[in-house]
Amino acid sequence: MSTIQVKDKFFKPFISSDEIQKAVCQVADKINKDLAGKNPIFICVLNGAFMFAADLYKNITIDSEITFMRMKSYDGMQTTGKVKAISGLMEDIKDRTVVVVEDIVDTGYTMKNIIEQLKEKGAKEVKIATLLHKPEALKVELDLDYVALNIPNAFIVGYGLDYDELGRNLKDIYVIAE
Ligand code: IMP
Repeated sequence: MSTIQVKDKFFKPFISSDEIQKAVCQVADKINKDLAGKNPIFICVLNGAFMFAADLYKNITIDSEITFMRMKSYDGMQTTGKVKAISGLMEDIKDRTVVVVEDIVDTGYTMKNIIEQLKEKGAKEVKIATLLHKPEALKVELDLDYVALNIPNAFIVGYGLDYDELGRNLKDIYVIAE
């Protein structure tokens, strides 16, 4: 792993694919224990969470379903702060245990908004599974049920996460080189 360029920025190696896989398996084990018998529905937040959702779901052994939805709050490297609505969720989640599968919780505004909208749609309980969390950046009160990895407040790409839609295909996670 060496420094890479994505568009006009340089990024250095940060979290290896092996470390990611270990952390994802730990989250899956915990969910398997906690949510057995609840037939949860996993909702992958596109686009960023698609790799995490795939690896996580391969390690889920309890009866459950998976589906997908969209919600985007990032434009380039800046949070726009725009409130966005859930789109593309076809399943009825009324009275279901829902697990939101997200790539990263940064300020937490997106996740808070998602939780509120899922509750309005009648979810019985909403659990959060996030690959990454930047505790220093959190601006709202949130109970994060499953966090694979906590990271410092720096911009990262790879393993589904993008910089202006690029870099999602990287197997490892890279952090911006200052
Ligand atoms: P929040 O609303 O500030 O928590 O932002 C959540 C969304 O911002 C995530 O789902 C990502 O799409 C995006 N995001 C936040 N931090 C990063 C980052 O470091 N790299 C790439 N995308 C990020």
